[in-house]
Amino acid sequence: MPKPKSHFVCQSCGTVHGKWAGRCDACGTWNTLVEEALGQLASSGTRRKKGRAVDFVDLGGETPDLPRMSSGITEFDRVTGGGLVTGSALLVGGDPGIGKSTLLLQVTGRLAAAGLKTAYISGEESTGQVQRRAKRLGLSENPVSLAAETSLRPILDGLMSSKPDVVVIDSIQTLWTDQLGAAPGTVAQVRACAQELTRFAKKTGACVILVGHVTKDGQIAGPRVVEHMVDAVLYFEGEKSHQFRILRAHKNRFGPTDEIGVFEMGEGGLSEVANPSALFLDGRGDAASGAAVFAGLEGTRPVLTEIQALVAPAAFGTPRRAVVGWESSRLAMVLAVLEARCGVSFAGKDVYLNVAGGFRINEPAADLAVAAAIASSVFDIPLPADAVVFGEISLSGDVRPVSRSDARLKEAAKLGFGRAIAAIPKGKLGEAAAQILPMIAIKALPDLISRVETSANELGPTDSLEDVAWAA
Ligand code: TYD
Ligand code: MG
Repeated sequence: MPKPKSHFVCQSCGTVHGKWAGRCDACGTWNTLVEEALGQLASSGTRRKKGRAVDFVDLGGETPDLPRMSSGITEFDRVTGGGLVTGSALLVGGDPGIGKSTLLLQVTGRLAAAGLKTAYISGEESTGQVQRRAKRLGLSENPVSLAAETSLRPILDGLMSSKPDVVVIDSIQTLWTDQLGAAPGTVAQVRACAQELTRFAKKTGACVILVGHVTKDGQIAGPRVVEHMVDAVLYFEGEKSHQFRILRAHKNRFGPTDEIGVFEMGEGGLSEVANPSALFLDGRGDAASGAAVFAGLEGTRPVLTEIQALVAPAAFGTPRRAVVGWESSRLAMVLAVLEARCGVSFAGKDVYLNVAGGFRINEPAADLAVAAAIASSVFDIPLPADAVVFGEISLSGDVRPVSRSDARLKEAAKLGFGRAIAAIPKGKLGEAAAQILPMIAIKALPDLISRVETSANELGPTDSLEDVAWAA
């Protein structure tokens, strides 16, 4: 039988098919199969030769500290785990226009100023465009080597001869190699180019940063294959309508994955935000019903955000549950617990939940703050304006203490909050926490609801009456 000259690869899941089809059997998507020439890759017919065997070593070998290249941009260095690692490959993903090129130009500029050899290769913009941007960012004098190129071969040749320490490829989706028949931007091209560049990083000890665009459903287009290849995946996210941007580690072989870096986009590019809580709480007005300040934790850093809820009669038959910045399944759980354990009914009511400022919360510790915001909206009574809320709700309605209460409370105290509505950790931890900020202990969700209800039933939120309901 003659050997097949090509096969068909699904651009969505990467499954290989022998024949073309309209629909991929594996993932069920339509029109995603693209033909790829097989070339020398198909070596299935060759006889297996006896070759080199692997060497085994102990787990307890000598491990020198990873050589790191610190950019001096604290927010960036924290997310990478203390600086870029030599011989590693990084993927920075994000929506178009979110500021990936700006961030990486600033990073390379700083690294170059610190004496490292850097190269910035743009496949999307001309050198003139990048130079103009550099001028605006005040980086014209920084010795970054710049090139505009999309073909992989000349790029690799250039890098081989100039041997930079850090290379930025903006973006991986624009690159193509003539060794493949597929068009630029297809899975095959993205995978082949990423593979070659990762190999270059390992071989020469350079750090290669690949920029990748994210599709609407949040996947790096071209797609997940690159995530597996690289050592770290960082996402740059934010709302176009807001000034702040968040760099989040999604995978990191050399550092933690729960750290975030916060930046603010302005006239002169991205600037670091050392105190994100102040930024997210900026513009918070007088205490209004339906708002609760959540003392959260992002990696090692406490971040305060405002959670807003609105419970309103449903205009149409099926009530709506809309969430921005939190998991909708988690909201459904909190609503169910409020119904079942506290007797608050949401039948025929729309529930809207929003995390102010376009921030995204991933912690279950936000449960209690969400419940407090919802209860406050249901009874139309503001929560104490000087209180932060945190705690995890279990299905039984119990409220559990969460990790690092001390860090959360310290941040709240620093920003001028006077008390915390939370579950107090047992023993020494609890005593230490109460030293930082007075705590209103909530052991179970009905506790919270009865306090909100009490303050709503009194004439109004005058100081003395409020303090009856919210005494510690
Ligand atoms: P860019 O880095 O080109 O985004 P990406 O590479 O992720 O597609 O950022 C483009 C946006 O950033 C653009 O909408 C303009 C804005 N911007 C500023 O607000 N200030 C600046 O100094 C720069 C360089 C860009
Ligand atoms: Mg760009």
